[in-house]
Amino acid sequence: MRPKTVTPAGIWGTGIYLPPRVLTNRDLEKMVDTSDEWILTRTGIRERRIAEEGQAASDLAVPAARQALAEAGVAAGELDLIIVATNSPDMLFPATACLVQHALGAVRAGAFDLQAGCTAFIYALACGAQFIATGTARWVLVIGTEVLSRLVNWQDRNTCVLFGDGAGAAVLGPVPEGYGILATRLGAEGAGAHLLSLPAGLSRHPASPETLAKGMHYIHMNGREVFKFAVKVMEEGFAEVLEAAGLSPEQVDFFIPHQANTRIIEAAAKRMNLPREKVWVNLDRYGNTSAATIPVALHEAVKAGRIKDGDRVALMAFGAGLTWGGMVLRWYDPRKENHIAREGEDGHYPHEAV
Ligand code: ACO
Repeated sequence: MRPKTVTPAGIWGTGIYLPPRVLTNRDLEKMVDTSDEWILTRTGIRERRIAEEGQAASDLAVPAARQALAEAGVAAGELDLIIVATNSPDMLFPATACLVQHALGAVRAGAFDLQAGCTAFIYALACGAQFIATGTARWVLVIGTEVLSRLVNWQDRNTCVLFGDGAGAAVLGPVPEGYGILATRLGAEGAGAHLLSLPAGLSRHPASPETLAKGMHYIHMNGREVFKFAVKVMEEGFAEVLEAAGLSPEQVDFFIPHQANTRIIEAAAKRMNLPREKVWVNLDRYGNTSAATIPVALHEAVKAGRIKDGDRVALMAFGAGLTWGGMVLRWYDPRKENHIAREGEDGHYPHEAV
């Protein structure tokens, strides 16, 4: 039966985990033919975090998830669904989400991974929101987690200076009408698939001594072409998602862009007419953590008091696929006084008519 109403979904809590080990541009100068000056001026990155040996994507995801659950006031056992957005899963199968589900003790939750390059977190948020909208799920945990340091060729200066490891999580749940996700736009240009890929190890090019010798198990990227795509979709996608939300650029209170390159972010913000103080940038500290950039930046911006209840927040990302995605939310702070508590005395949730 089709649901009679659509339940708005919003973010109740966020959490992050960044491994403590720091790799600076100066450290990289000793590893490949590069310089701190080149990396900083071309990308905006100063340093990135690197997972400890033996630490996989699920290991980073679990502490981020625990923090998000604690902030949301939701117990792991209440989760209906876990979606892990990642391009560097622990292994191809089982899904990293299943490993997280077990570690959290989220015994009632379904669990799967979602792969959409660096756009994966926005795709995953959009996906989780559908389950809430239809009443199929109440609490959905969405995590972006990456250990890209295992997928880059540390001898390839074109890629190894760009990426970092980290995880961010968000708990999605029902919110009052007018709050939560206002609009989403997801896009893909598969014609550009070859521009950013990790070609070997699966059905197209099974792992072999030859794929190994050619380094086909590493990330390969045509940075210049990805750059052009990024600048184009950041502007066009933003315009599309704003139109869908019925907002003008001036009505956006805060912007969380994918953290790949400050030049991309600055070009996009300029074209979107967004002043610098409305944009969160942290790639100087973490580099590009792919599917984790958006939730990590979102968490930091909320903690810094830059995103408050009622604010209109835009998220934009692009990545391998090629893919892009945009989302506009009206921020819901469950702790704000006038908000209906998560579960009223009569057991109703905020979206339900009392
Ligand atoms: N240190 C020094 N020199 C370098 C380095 C380095 N680390 N890397 C490249 N160079 C050299 C190149 O070899 C080239 O030299 P050449 O002209 O002699 O051939 C020169 O610098 C210029 O190279 P470009 O590729 O033109 O440099 P560009 O200004 O485009 O910057 C960069 C490269 C930073 C990769 C940029 O293109 C970029 O950010 N692209 C977008 C990448 C991206 O956002 N990816 C995100 C998606 S990730 C995902 O989905 C997993």
